[in-house]
Parts: sequence; C-alpha cells; structure tokens
Amino acid sequence: MSTPKKLFIKTYGCQMNVYDSERMAEALGGQGYVETTSADEADMILLNTCHIREKAAEKTYSELGRLKALKKDKPDLKIGVAGCVAQAEGAEIMRRQPAVDLVVGPQSYHRLPEMEAKTRTGATALDTDFPEEDKFEKLASRPKAKRGPSAFLTVQEGCDKFCAFCVVPYTRGAEVSRPVSRILDEARDLVERGVREITLLGQNVNAYHGAGPDGSDYTLAKLIWDLDRVDGLERIRFTTSHPNDMTDDLIEAHGTCAKLMPYLHLPVQSGSDRILKRMNRSHTADSYLRLIERIRAARPDIVMSGDFIVGFPEETEADFQATLDLVEEVNYGYAYSFKYSTRPGTPAAERAQVDVAEADDRLQRLQALITQQQHAIQNDMVGRTVHVLFEKPGRLAGQMGGKSEYLHAVHVDNANVEIGQIAPVRITSASTNSLAGVLV
Ligand code: 5AD
Ligand code: SF4
Repeated sequence: MSTPKKLFIKTYGCQMNVYDSERMAEALGGQGYVETTSADEADMILLNTCHIREKAAEKTYSELGRLKALKKDKPDLKIGVAGCVAQAEGAEIMRRQPAVDLVVGPQSYHRLPEMEAKTRTGATALDTDFPEEDKFEKLASRPKAKRGPSAFLTVQEGCDKFCAFCVVPYTRGAEVSRPVSRILDEARDLVERGVREITLLGQNVNAYHGAGPDGSDYTLAKLIWDLDRVDGLERIRFTTSHPNDMTDDLIEAHGTCAKLMPYLHLPVQSGSDRILKRMNRSHTADSYLRLIERIRAARPDIVMSGDFIVGFPEETEADFQATLDLVEEVNYGYAYSFKYSTRPGTPAAERAQVDVAEADDRLQRLQALITQQQHAIQNDMVGRTVHVLFEKPGRLAGQMGGKSEYLHAVHVDNANVEIGQIAPVRITSASTNSLAGVLV
C-alpha cells in the first residue's frame, strides 16, 4: 500500500477561510492526501490567504519566498495559494514566485482535485473563476470522521453592500445563499459526527435568502428555526451580520429560540454619521443604537460584539469622538478595531488619508475603551452560573475547557465531564482572556 501524501494548509483571516480550509482538505482527501501540521513533511502546501487589509499580498509573497527553499530538498513538493489573495492577484502570483504550482480562488476550490492532478504532470494550475455551478454541490461529501463539538457551516457567501473601504464584494463576489436542504443535510451530518454547536457563516449572513423546500426564499431566522429541530444540535450561532439585515423575525428568534446563543456580532464601523455616509454603510449611529435596544428587549442578557475602523479617510477628532460615544453607549463584550487600510480598487482608496500617527493614537484609545468594557463584562460573570460546552482538556491535569453561551472561554479544574457535554458552571474568577469556574 502506498503511504498517503501529506497536506499542510496554513489559514489566514476569517472563519470562512477556516471552513474553506477544512473543505479543501476533504476535497484533496480524495486524491490520497492526509493533513499534517508540519510544513517540512508536506507533499503539498496550501496557503489559504486573506486580503481584507493591506500587506496581505506582501505577506503571502514573503511566506512563499520562505517555502520555496523546501523545494530544494523535495522537488516534488507542490505549493498552492488559495483564498482572497489568490482571487485578487491571480496569475501574477506565479509570475512573481515561480515556485508556485497552483492558484485557486475561493469560488472554485471544488476543482482542486483536477488541479492537483495537473500539477503532478509538472504543469501549473490556475482557477480564479466565479463558476455558475455551486462549489458546495460539487465538493465530495465530508468523510464520516469524528469531530470536535463546535463547527462552522457556510450558508451564504459574498456581499452586495460595497462599503467604500472593503474588498469583499470583489474577492468573494456577489451574495449567494445555499439552499436550505443542503444546509440541513450538512448540519445533520456534523451532528452525527459529534458536533453540538454550529456557527452559520456568511460575509453577510443575515442577508441569507436561500431556497426553501418549496422553492420560496427563506430568511436566516427561518433557517435557524429549521436547525432548531435537528436533534442533537444544541447551539446555534451566526456571523457576520449587517445592521440593515437584522429583520424582525431574527430579532425575535433571539428571544424565543433556546438554541440560539445570546451573543451577536454586529459591526458598525464608526459612530459618526458623516463617516458612515462616506463609508456607504446606509445606516446611522442612531439607527444602530435603536436596533440594539430592540435586540436587547428581545434578549436582555445578549453580549454584543462589533467591528470598528479608525482613521477612515477624512475622519476628524470629532468623528472619532462620536465612535467612542457609541461604544460607551453600547457596552461591548468583545469588539475588533482596525486602522483603516487602503485597498486598491475600492472607492475610499482615492480619498485624503488621515495622518498615520493620528490613526495609531485613535486606535489605541478605542482599544483601551473596548478592553475596559470587555473586562467589566467578564468580571460581571463572577458568581453567575453559565452553561459551558466542553471542547477540550485544559492545560493542567484534570482541567477541561469550553465556551459559555456568551462565548467566553471557561475552564474548570477536576471536571468530570466529557468533551461535547454541556454543563452548568458557576464562575469563580475572571482573568484577561478566560473565566474559571466550578461545576454546579
Ligand atoms: N481597512 C481596515 N479594516 C477593514 N475591514 C474591512 N476592510 C477594511 C479596511 N480596508 C474590517 C471591517 C470589517 C472587518 C472584517 O474588517 O471592520 O467588519
Ligand atoms: Fe465588506 Fe461587510 Fe461592507 Fe460587505 S457589508 S462590503 S463584507 S464590510
């Protein structure tokens, strides 16, 4: 019997890339590959790249420069670039780094098996199409191997919103939703393999409008209610949402669907209406705040999370102050903040840039405020009983770790629980990045 070939995938960027990497590994499993965690022993190396902020392409090229050296000792090694840098740069990647054998975009990776076979003949393979066919339909079904308790499931891809700073509409393409039946099949399959929690993924997941069994469009809330009926699935989450697509039925589901977890990632990007307009966000700070009021009315204990960009072109100190004010008002459990990064080809790239030192300073001030809120919410958990989905052993003997419904990492000493079990835990202390507790 021949020994299996080894595949090393390095994933950058968002959760959708994590999901795509899993599916790529499965697709190449059919070609006799098994995954390895070591680039040195790999027969094929795939970089699954992210293009959301600057320097992503440069990072890819310098990583490729390093990997090229591995080919000296192993001439049969194949090197591939997948993901959004692959989409954006295409054939340029092979021109700049001839050691690359394969370039595949995020909408065509179901063709990886044929592409890999082509590289075995010594040829290169390039595919950055947005094909008509649905890659998920073409991908081999997942092997029945057991998995951890938490999984991602892509239900929607692409974006039609065209925020002035963002490359996603160009790299991932137009909004497309997968049909309901396919998602339910995949969810049931994941549950059979040990999954208890599914995070539904989409660049604009709450714009989900996949075809239901009778052909009519579903909403994300309807999809969640169908998933709610899948036995053995205990928890449902979704990310990332746009404020303008938070429909009434989805808000209501946060109050009425017990499997839907009380955590919502709802990026706002800025608290200044002037900047929101220039960002082409089609909402105001006030409409966002009123929306959160409605979500909290449906689910008072929900933990909010968000994304922010500071130093967007023409942002003044007063605009930035409006962002701080909004953060004060919302009180985030988590938030991700970024310095604006110019993306060639996006409308904002042409505009007057904010001074770098000024933008750095704003980023620091915003992050300090967010960290303060995050710690306060973690500290508030002390003394409360949360429900932890146990995912893996902790660092110390007998310790088990998992996530609460609010997505806090929680660990418990001497925990007599199985992986995949959900158990009540009383929180006894909070540290920077995790909570400690005891089983109730
Ligand atoms: N510069 C900085 N941050 C960006 N994001 C998207 N595009 C840019 C950019 N050009 C951030 C947004 C988005 C998150 C995924 O990345 O906050 O919500
Ligand atoms: Fe990018 Fe999100 Fe705006 Fe779409 S909604 S353009 S993915 S930031």
